[in-house]
Amino acid sequence: MDLVVTTVQHPSDDINTLAEHIATILNIPFAPRAKHSLMAIKIHYQVDNVIVVGQKGPLVNTPGGEYFFHLSMAELRIKNLLNGQHDHMISAMSLQAGMSVLDCTLGLATDSIVASFVVGSAGTILGLETSPIVAFIASYGLKHFQTDEQSLTEALRRIDVKHAHSYKYLTTLADNSYDIVYFDPMFRHPIHSSSNVKPLRYLADNSPLPKNTLKEACRVAKKRVVVKESSKSNEFTRLGITTVYGGKYSSVHYGVIEIGD
Ligand SMILES: C[S@@+](CC[C@H](N)C(=O)[O-])C[C@H]1O[C@@H](n2cnc3c(N)ncnc32)[C@H](O)[C@@H]1O
Repeated sequence: MDLVVTTVQHPSDDINTLAEHIATILNIPFAPRAKHSLMAIKIHYQVDNVIVVGQKGPLVNTPGGEYFFHLSMAELRIKNLLNGQHDHMISAMSLQAGMSVLDCTLGLATDSIVASFVVGSAGTILGLETSPIVAFIASYGLKHFQTDEQSLTEALRRIDVKHAHSYKYLTTLADNSYDIVYFDPMFRHPIHSSSNVKPLRYLADNSPLPKNTLKEACRVAKKRVVVKESSKSNEFTRLGITTVYGGKYSSVHYGVIEIGD
């Protein structure tokens, strides 16, 4: 992996322990920070990406900027839903309280957080992420990030994270295991206004959604398979998806395959 872990300068014992723990679980070197600059550490270990553990938890210094857990648009999207506004992803999923969602491309977990809030404590959300570092950042953030809203914090804590490749994991599941199976693959043509995605590109699996994965998803989903894509992309045509949700001027659209009621 193109990655080492270090700490901020003058780390506490807890910070050192967390950094050593991350080194062990991701099987990457632990670089004691001492007075070294991050650039010196990158040169010494011949890596592009360094996890820096500090008081607020881990962040990854990548050539595309810093990648760390935050709520991104989740909080605003939830506020909008509470104000009776429409969320295209939630409509595409036809998501309701108590439903189960398998998010096959967890990333920063923004979509999963919104879905978790909607399904509530009677529902379930499992997020799969194939990149070990992206899975770790999401898992750590979902467990530890504090918000001012109890119901939002609870939505974060309810999401289960699994470091797994979606195709491999889907093949282990029985037919109709989840109400919704969801994909948000890295866009073929990145939306440049989306600054969060730039560092993610250095850490994520940037492959398109394979047709055999979509076929497995259709077997595992009880109600719908939903795929998010850039509105400019040809991916829906390639995947044979004909029902598409999303605003006329929206930069992202949601392809929907209906499986059952
Ligand atoms: C665009 S991001 C998802 C963003 C996410 N929906 C959110 O709201 O934060 C896509 C993520 O899917 C992951 N990914 C790509 N292919 C995957 C696969 N086959 N299995 C699991 N995760 C995958 C990438 O590593 C990346 O982190």
